[in-house]
Amino acid sequence: MKDSFGREINYLRISVTEDCNHRCVYCMPANAVPRSWTAMKDDDIVEVVEAAASLGITKFRITGGEPLVRPGIVDLCARIHDVKGVKEVTMTTNGTRLKEMAKDLKAAGINRVNISLDTLDEKKFRQITRGGDINKVLEGMDAAFAAGMDPIKLNTVLIGGFNDDEIFKLAELTRSCPLDVRFIELMPIGDVHQFPEQAYIPCSVVLEKVPELVRINDKAESSVTRLYKLNNGRGRVGLISPLSCDFCGSCNRLRLTADGCLKPCLHSFEEIHIKGLHGSELQWALKLAIAHKPKAHAALSATERSQSRRDMNRIGG
Ligand code: GTP
Ligand code: 5AD
Ligand code: SF4
Repeated sequence: MKDSFGREINYLRISVTEDCNHRCVYCMPANAVPRSWTAMKDDDIVEVVEAAASLGITKFRITGGEPLVRPGIVDLCARIHDVKGVKEVTMTTNGTRLKEMAKDLKAAGINRVNISLDTLDEKKFRQITRGGDINKVLEGMDAAFAAGMDPIKLNTVLIGGFNDDEIFKLAELTRSCPLDVRFIELMPIGDVHQFPEQAYIPCSVVLEKVPELVRINDKAESSVTRLYKLNNGRGRVGLISPLSCDFCGSCNRLRLTADGCLKPCLHSFEEIHIKGLHGSELQWALKLAIAHKPKAHAALSATERSQSRRDMNRIGG
């Protein structure tokens, strides 16, 4: 279905939980208490997927918090995958539970995952995630490969003074591994850790540090990513620049929060409550969310915070 600016909206991101076994400093407050009691039930989520599919939404991404901490998540993925009209169900995860779950997820129809990894250093990883163990993520990544998931994409949030010294090393991973490493500009959103101005570095820094990168095009890639490749690289490097570059013109997505709100835009305060709606009312709410998609989000910078009233773990990225 097209929105008021002629953009085809065919992608729904579904946050299935606010909870997470990490507490990344840019995403969740240290003392966050996820409200799991407000979460939509499996049947209700499947009903939203059915309504969305009937409006021409074909691509679904399961997010969190951390989606793999939700009880029964594999069965829920399988149910979403089986809805008529659904072409793809993917997941964004911190990877820590993939070692045990990748095989079952693949069998449930999750053919690819995006994994958050901001550093290759064990100590820095513990610091940014507030206690996480990088080895669990690396083992999870191996398990995803072994299960036949393809492509596997790493999401690295660029933070000046924290991981800009690792850009080269992270990009180099794509030379020998069939991985996509995607650098994401740090977004000032939610009531989380306040970073100094120097932390907000543009993705163009990646091109300065790795001049060998050559721009490539892939129509199948998400509308927010610019893709590059190293000479003879097996994988690709992606740049996601919500601060320095405006990709809103090709935005194709809606978001559903774990507590049952549709967000027409990641960075807008507007939310449409859909809990308790069924059938044509649900379809109407989805149409309303599409109609309310703004042309673009307001400016974001070190001094201009997102207008969204939620922390990122309560949206799902
Ligand atoms: P692919 O289908 O694999 O391309 O996935 P994706 O890029 O749509 O999903 P993912 O969850 O991996 O998102 C990557 C990052 O891009 C996350 O940090 C998101 O917050 C950010 N992002 C995704 N969509 C938007 C958007 O509409 N606006 C902004 N500003 N950032 C976004
Ligand atoms: N800025 C940029 N990316 C973020 N993510 C979470 N919070 C932020 C933020 N403030 C990313 C995570 C994950 C994806 C869903 O969103 O790294 O990969
Ligand atoms: Fe959890 Fe992902 Fe947020 Fe980190 S970025 S706290 S792993 S939801």
